[in-house]
Amino acid sequence: MRHDHLLTAKQLSRADIEAVLARAREFADDPAAHADRHPGALLALCFFEPSTRTKMSFETAAKRLGGDVIDMGAVEDSSVKKGESLADTARVVEGYADGIVLRHPSQGAARMASEFVDVPLVNAGDGAGHHPSQTLLDLYTIDENAGLDDLTIGVMGDLKYGRTVHSLAHALTNFDVRQHFISPESLRLPRSVRYDLHEAGANVREHDDLDAVLPELDVLYVTRIQRERFPDEEEYEKVAGEYRIDAETLGAASDDLAVMHPLPRIDEIDPEIDASPNATYFEQAHNGVPVRMALLDLLLREGGDAE
Ligand code: NCD
Repeated sequence: MRHDHLLTAKQLSRADIEAVLARAREFADDPAAHADRHPGALLALCFFEPSTRTKMSFETAAKRLGGDVIDMGAVEDSSVKKGESLADTARVVEGYADGIVLRHPSQGAARMASEFVDVPLVNAGDGAGHHPSQTLLDLYTIDENAGLDDLTIGVMGDLKYGRTVHSLAHALTNFDVRQHFISPESLRLPRSVRYDLHEAGANVREHDDLDAVLPELDVLYVTRIQRERFPDEEEYEKVAGEYRIDAETLGAASDDLAVMHPLPRIDEIDPEIDASPNATYFEQAHNGVPVRMALLDLLLREGGDAE
């Protein structure tokens, strides 16, 4: 992989993805055995929006590689509160760390910040934009459970504001995949994403109902309605609680269906499914550590070139 920054899934070629997944597999075998890989490396965590998994798995990954993290902490406790610009924050933090992980509510924030820094910067979510490191762990999980070629995937829920969906949809165009998108009319994929998928020759269909397509699916990727991105609470109320799955829903699915979710879930997946062999979302979250170890390993090497 030869990238200075990871900003969107669009920049990932099939070879890049395969390189990360192969390395992640090595790390997954024994995550604690690689502390000699990047001793002393410092990763800065700058999260301007809430996070549990992304932040903690990047922190775990950095520490497993022998490095450490410095954490900007809550926005309320930082100089952002005093009116500091993101560009200035980025310029300052790059002087402290060997890499930056940035989450921000504004779409395009990671790209903008990356223009001010020389250390590798990972976009850990920019508003309703992209979340490419989540995509890498999603791809790893899909590969482990269903394989990435000759795959039929359904992606359901908030396709408009869900950044994990946008990144995953782009990345899947590198593989032989049939993508089915299931959502209410008002939460369909943004036009720009649909355009990119079309340009990439992706095999894509959109539905407002899961039933018709469920039996064909190898993977069902469920997402949370992104309440915080709705300009109007009433619009959220109209779609909240739609597109839920429970044990009865799975009755019509293939026995091998892998149910995925980037988490956090609210009520999209009934907890009664958690103990079923179809539930893959906790395994998916755990895969965040070896996959982010692999990503950091590749990015932190000189010039971002690991080979
Ligand atoms: C996602 C996000 O932040 O986009 N969370 C995550 O990183 N696993 C999904 C979400 O918040 O719904």
